[in-house]
Amino acid sequence: MVHPVRKGRVGVGMVKASKRKTRTPSATPSPSGEGRGRKRRFLPHAQDTDSTQVQGQPLPTAGKVSKPRLSSLRAERLTIAIDGPSGAGKSTVARCLARRLGYVYIDTGAMYRSLALRAQERGISPEDELALSPLALSLRIHFITEGEQTHVFCEGEDITEAIRTPEISRLASSISKQKGVRQALVQMQREMGKKGGVVLEGRDIGTVVFPNADVKFYLDADSHERIRRRYSEMVEKGVKVNFKETQEELLQRDHNDTHRVHSPLKKATDAVFIDSTHRTVEEVVGEMIRVIEERFKSDE
Ligand code: DC
Repeated sequence: MVHPVRKGRVGVGMVKASKRKTRTPSATPSPSGEGRGRKRRFLPHAQDTDSTQVQGQPLPTAGKVSKPRLSSLRAERLTIAIDGPSGAGKSTVARCLARRLGYVYIDTGAMYRSLALRAQERGISPEDELALSPLALSLRIHFITEGEQTHVFCEGEDITEAIRTPEISRLASSISKQKGVRQALVQMQREMGKKGGVVLEGRDIGTVVFPNADVKFYLDADSHERIRRRYSEMVEKGVKVNFKETQEELLQRDHNDTHRVHSPLKKATDAVFIDSTHRTVEEVVGEMIRVIEERFKSDE
């Protein structure tokens, strides 16, 4: 059977999640070595190795969740929302969390980026809501996650690299303020996640897309650290950028994403705030699993 995260295809109407089960009590937690790892810096869209593959001392806040408990979380088929600004580490953490739980990972930012790319190819202005909304409705986007990489396909074309340029980042942020665009993509995201067993990351997942998500996180980091991560990501990819440009672009996007009229980025009142500034990927994912487990325990 195809693993939904390691090698899974997800698109509208494509999520093959098993029927959601009734919550079942779980056993007492026991340290199992989960969460042990070398300290991995955040590099969004870069490696997110299994924490079980790495060596070292257990980290202070890393999740110590026994395998049986992880499998009971897997069986829950929860809907997990992760929101936050650019460079907070959402993609890396969400993909890693989805893998640990055996869930499907949905990168909603990639959907806005896909629309931005198609609009750019057609010469459609980011202000032209009348042209953007039907284009958004017509998009056929799906994701295939293989190991550490999530490929984004639009109408069957692999656009994974094409949507990660600074220009598409700017355009995506700009088109995402249009109400019609948001309505179309939110509908698509709800369709993708409707069966549960999903980790969705974006800006409005916990506030608009799935306001009843089982667990919500708001992931943030100091802006200098977020700029550093974004810059490293671009350099690693061989994209020609300078630090100042990256800084301006990220701060401008922060401003756009938090000040737009429709669904601005904000922490849902019931979201758990996590600051990733001085933490490794394993520490953040471990913390999330601990929170999910606690929530699950208190629901028994
Ligand atoms: O997460 P990202 O950097 O790939 O997102 C690109 C842009 O898409 C972001 O600047 C704002 C927009 N976006 C959004 O408005 N709502 C989402 N749920 C996800 C992304």
